[in-house]
Amino acid sequence: MDSNKRPDDMQRITTPQLAQAFIDEQVEAIREQIGDGKVLLALSGGVDSSVVAALLIKAIGKQLVCVHVNHGLMRKGESEQVIDVFENQMDANLVYVDAADRFLDLLEGVADPEAKRHVIGEEFIKVFAEEAAKLDGIKFLGQGTIYPDILESEAGVKAHHNVGGLPEDLDFELVEPVKLLFKDEVRVVGDELGLPADMVYRQPFPGPGLGVRCLGAITRDRLNALREADAIVRAEIEAAGLDIWQYFCVVPDMRATGVRDGSRAFEWPCIIRCINTVDVMTAEVPELDWPLLKKMTDRILGEVPGICRVCYDLSPKPIGTVEWE
Ligand code: XMP
Repeated sequence: MDSNKRPDDMQRITTPQLAQAFIDEQVEAIREQIGDGKVLLALSGGVDSSVVAALLIKAIGKQLVCVHVNHGLMRKGESEQVIDVFENQMDANLVYVDAADRFLDLLEGVADPEAKRHVIGEEFIKVFAEEAAKLDGIKFLGQGTIYPDILESEAGVKAHHNVGGLPEDLDFELVEPVKLLFKDEVRVVGDELGLPADMVYRQPFPGPGLGVRCLGAITRDRLNALREADAIVRAEIEAAGLDIWQYFCVVPDMRATGVRDGSRAFEWPCIIRCINTVDVMTAEVPELDWPLLKKMTDRILGEVPGICRVCYDLSPKPIGTVEWE
């Protein structure tokens, strides 16, 4: 039987009971596969890798080594949450790598979007491989592959690799316990494993992170402004209780004139981007209430140094893609 094919009669995991049955079955299968071996896992803090980490911790505890690479392009508080949940609450074997300076130094002056993605992807592999080389006796690599990754990869839409395509000489056997699940099922399993709701229901976040939202050549000051503005948008939309598929900020590499405390200000604009979608092939822009837009605007202008204008992106996809780069 093709182990990458979801059996036709496989029940959709929609309830805590079904999730628990899946967890029990996988814990047993993982223990059988791994024995007393060790597993390495790149833990981004996204839904899929977090659920795989929690499953592996349940099955083999400290035989799992999680590596969280902070590339300096995470949203505010995300690396801190990974450490809090996995190290403090789940007692995981977690290697935290603060590689922010490495990434930001390499990205200095790199303005082309594809070149930026390339730099970030390559460096990620390098950092991860370096960490792997420091560890002895690891035979297995955990991956948060999910079923749409396999389907898209088979259909030639995109190659599925969760850690960006590791070098061939890292000769690992893969452990992919959620590879036959759809995203909604992974979330039910994550809930049942006790992961926090804001991790389980986290929005999709591009691998290159804020790097593709700090447009053009990234500078540390503009990246910081973006991170703060983004945190305000996130907090206000969540406080309003809105169910929006993806929401974030973009800060372009240009300045606009403003006036602050009676003096000329020449600062960045910040663009709020919100979209609703089913499959991300097309997306609509939700109509936000004016008071919410005004509150986000006032807070960003008042609290984020370096930003003197706030805009709302009204472009559906197509023509505008979700991300600006
Ligand atoms: P676009 O901009 O193509 O985005 O309309 C569609 C969805 O994909 C996410 N996205 C990425 N995810 N690596 C990722 O893991 C990337 O390089 C990347 N670029 C876009 C985007 O956030 C949206 O959900």
